[in-house]
Amino acid sequence: MTAIDVRPAPDADATERAVAAALRVVDANIAEFGDRYPGDTTVHNRYHLRPGPDGLPDGTNTGWTTSFWPGMLWLALELTGDERYLRAATAHVPGFADRISTQSDVETHDLGFLYTLSCVVAWRRTGDPKARRAALAAAEHLLNRVLEPAGIIQAWGDMDDPDQRGRTIIDSLMNTPLLYWAGETTGDPRYAAVARGHVEQLRDHILRADDTTYHTFYWDPATGEPLRGETEQGSADDSCWARGQAWGIYGFALNHRYTGDPSFLVAARRCADYFLAHLPADRVAHWDLVFGDGSGQDRDSSAAAIAVCGLLELGGDRYRAAAGAILESLIARYSTAPHPESNALLLHGVYDKPKGIGVDEGTLWGDYFYLEALTRISRPGWTNHW
Ligand code: GLY
Repeated sequence: MTAIDVRPAPDADATERAVAAALRVVDANIAEFGDRYPGDTTVHNRYHLRPGPDGLPDGTNTGWTTSFWPGMLWLALELTGDERYLRAATAHVPGFADRISTQSDVETHDLGFLYTLSCVVAWRRTGDPKARRAALAAAEHLLNRVLEPAGIIQAWGDMDDPDQRGRTIIDSLMNTPLLYWAGETTGDPRYAAVARGHVEQLRDHILRADDTTYHTFYWDPATGEPLRGETEQGSADDSCWARGQAWGIYGFALNHRYTGDPSFLVAARRCADYFLAHLPADRVAHWDLVFGDGSGQDRDSSAAAIAVCGLLELGGDRYRAAAGAILESLIARYSTAPHPESNALLLHGVYDKPKGIGVDEGTLWGDYFYLEALTRISRPGWTNHW
């Protein structure tokens, strides 16, 4: 790994100021959004209610990112102990329970993101049986996306969609914690077996020999044979989409935590070392790691925030120091603390550069992982959401 110029971490005062600034934004967003949902990204640095599809009202619980909003509310509770955040966070459980019971927009592997942060955390923190039932129903639904003989979880779309059949994406590493949790809470071994089989396939095929990652990878659904990698949001099929590499760091590390499989830890470290060796001088990645200083390309602050959490999950002096250095840069240069006109926490994220969606904007997931990073750094006893 190329050494990056690091200080151990942002100092405690800077971290607490960053936490206070973030919580001011969360408070204003509770007033603005309540139990409705902001869009995936800001528009000119402001979130608005997410557009409701098919005649549904704006702010409806659709898409893959809605749980990051209650996820932030749980973090706010854990940062402060303030019961206001408990009420705000638990207000989202009925909507998520409804979404899975009515099967509304649930044909996606992102059930892990959606139900871990909304319902598993609610169940763990409050013991609400409705949250547990909803999260278990989501885990069960996720099992419908498994394609044998490859044993992978199809990422997107209808299971018969010829463009999507047999395709998985690196982000899916963050969806398997829902399955491990379901296995732990029920004692049913199917969930962890599926999660582990899927992650073994990603370890062997989505992670390349040079420690970069494909964004997406296809398996032959009939034979299970690994076919090819393709990008969707990266610069090229053979480039290294920065957020995908960050999902790889955190996702393989979490899968190691649940399984103890040392090969997942090795995979996480390989993703981390490549990511850290391809950062620009201010340590916040460009949207694809093929770009460096002087490229003029956009940064993806969300990739940086995810990577900080993944590096802290990996632990050890070297990764903690690198995480601290990246977080320090996010606080100093990318947070909205000096920009009260924004209702995001972080500026300069990228959702999908090739399609021109959410470029140089705040992102709901970037905000969540930034707040998680601040929580991890400032509250060492924090119980991981994932
Ligand atoms: N999981 C979708 C994304 O990272 O854009």
